[in-house]
Amino acid sequence: MDKILVHGGRRLRGNVKISGSKNSALPILAATLLTKEPCTISRATQAPYDIVRKMRASVCILGPLLGREHEATVSLPGGCVIGDRPIDLHLRGFEALGAAVKVSGGNVKVLAPKLTGATVSLRSTFGSTVLGTGNVMMAAVLADGTTVIDGAAEEPEVVDLANFLIAMGAKIEGAGTRTITIEGVKELHGAEHEVIPDRIEAGTFLVAGAISGDEVTLHRVNPEHLQAVISPLREAGFHIESNGNKISIAPGTKRRPLKLDTVPYPGFPTDMQAQMCALLANTDGISVVSEHVFPNRFMHIAELKRMGANIDLQGATAVITGVPQLSGAPVMASDLRASAALVLAGLQADGITEVNRVYHIDRGYDSIDEKLNELGAEIERVKA
Ligand code: UD1
Repeated sequence: MDKILVHGGRRLRGNVKISGSKNSALPILAATLLTKEPCTISRATQAPYDIVRKMRASVCILGPLLGREHEATVSLPGGCVIGDRPIDLHLRGFEALGAAVKVSGGNVKVLAPKLTGATVSLRSTFGSTVLGTGNVMMAAVLADGTTVIDGAAEEPEVVDLANFLIAMGAKIEGAGTRTITIEGVKELHGAEHEVIPDRIEAGTFLVAGAISGDEVTLHRVNPEHLQAVISPLREAGFHIESNGNKISIAPGTKRRPLKLDTVPYPGFPTDMQAQMCALLANTDGISVVSEHVFPNRFMHIAELKRMGANIDLQGATAVITGVPQLSGAPVMASDLRASAALVLAGLQADGITEVNRVYHIDRGYDSIDEKLNELGAEIERVKA
């Protein structure tokens, strides 16, 4: 298994191009199943294929296959180790459209001789469901009549998927709000689409710039999608400027600790929590980070502590007392964003940080090591 060696203490400076969004590309690739005609998806990097093969793809194809073939059987997803990842809300949506759902032998089967528009609520204790909203939307585009999704996820990736479906001929209104209305059509056709920039990759590079940047400029980003990351970074003392599809980050005079709560979009994203913990571990003062979307998503904390961080995990809240210096250590990547956090922590640590199990990071980042090296980092990939 490949590992990454991060030589700490190098300063970052320069420009980095952000790739297409992994979380958009995944359901959009699944949505191409809704038509027999060819579709062209640009800026879908290589990462999605890997994801499609290995993890939550099974879930994403349920909606389109149900829509087109009226039947789908897939393996229940394993996915990242970030706590339980149920799909009850996806299934509730399919049932509302008239599908029968059966789970057996590790598979879930959805079957609907006919799909009929209905009103469905996708609200859960932890907010709405992003992939669930996409899945129900994909099943509903070919249903008879009108479907209303209440408590829909408002994430930009849902809007991107809706825009692709609309380009294919679907009738969808309200994507990006809590209520999405879909009027079923008879069939969809092929379409071309460019996926939105990856706001989590962009956020990760902003934190890299915060951690060890003189000045780092991100290109091909949508600053509007990043407001919830930009504001706390400003509050933490960094200078951030955005102009068109560029964002620059530069150090301020002093880093300040933060209080952060992860919540669904447009709030602070759970997918940026681990990276921010890496920054705050080395920021003077006491920071408090609470996870409200995936309450068990704290596997990176034990690893950061191995690097000398002072973090007290109290339920779904990490109380971080900044230390002046982290020290390089062998660490284990447990999930995608946790691995990114460990690489970021390594940038500011003394000596060498050895991040093992980097396949996690490659599932979600397009050449993160190469991109950081272009900015001045010293990161080696050791092939197994
Ligand atoms: C997507 C993103 C992931 C991000 C997450 C939250 C993709 C490929 N992944 O994951 O990177 O961390 O959104 O922004 O787009 N839930 C239920 N029942 C369900 C579905 C979800 O209770 O049927 C709960 C989950 O356990 C979690 C919360 O709802 O607590 C949000 O999960 P969800 O939005 O579904 O995450 P994903 O769409 O899987």
